[in-house]
Amino acid sequence: MRKAFRKTKRGKLGKGYPVGTILQLFPFEAMAKRGGTFNPEGGGWEYVTLKPNADGSTEILKRGAAEVTGLTRNSCQACHLRLASEHDSVCEFVVGPEGLGLTDDLITGLQTDVRCK
Ligand code: HEC
Repeated sequence: MRKAFRKTKRGKLGKGYPVGTILQLFPFEAMAKRGGTFNPEGGGWEYVTLKPNADGSTEILKRGAAEVTGLTRNSCQACHLRLASEHDSVCEFVVGPEGLGLTDDLITGLQTDVRCK
């Protein structure tokens, strides 16, 4: 976990994120670096859509590789690869919030996890 955090801070990815890394920007989606032979076309990432509940629990709605789509019904993986194939599919380094048509303030407003404050 600390290694993933350092990589993000420095923006130096080397061989990419370590197995076990979980990245989340919004409460309703996340990506997790799986080990072994999982999704080699997608850099070993699993894409997940989530339903955060009022009681603080979270349900997994969809999980998988290229077939997983988000709110806009576009493939998570297709977009992340298109924008950030040189950065282990992590868009933060390439486009930032403008890539989603959002501002930093809007993104902060969408984050409901108290641990992120
Ligand atoms: C149309 C393109 C597009 C689609 C489709 C898309 N994303 Fe992203 N995603 C982005 C961009 C651009 C960012 C960077 C936003 C920022 O840094 O503020 C991002 C950021 C993220 C992050 C934070 C890590 C990073 O890459 O910066 C996660 C996790 C994530 N998306 C998961 C998903 C999941 C899961 C789906 C599908 C349910 C999905 N995304 C669909 C473009 C997309």
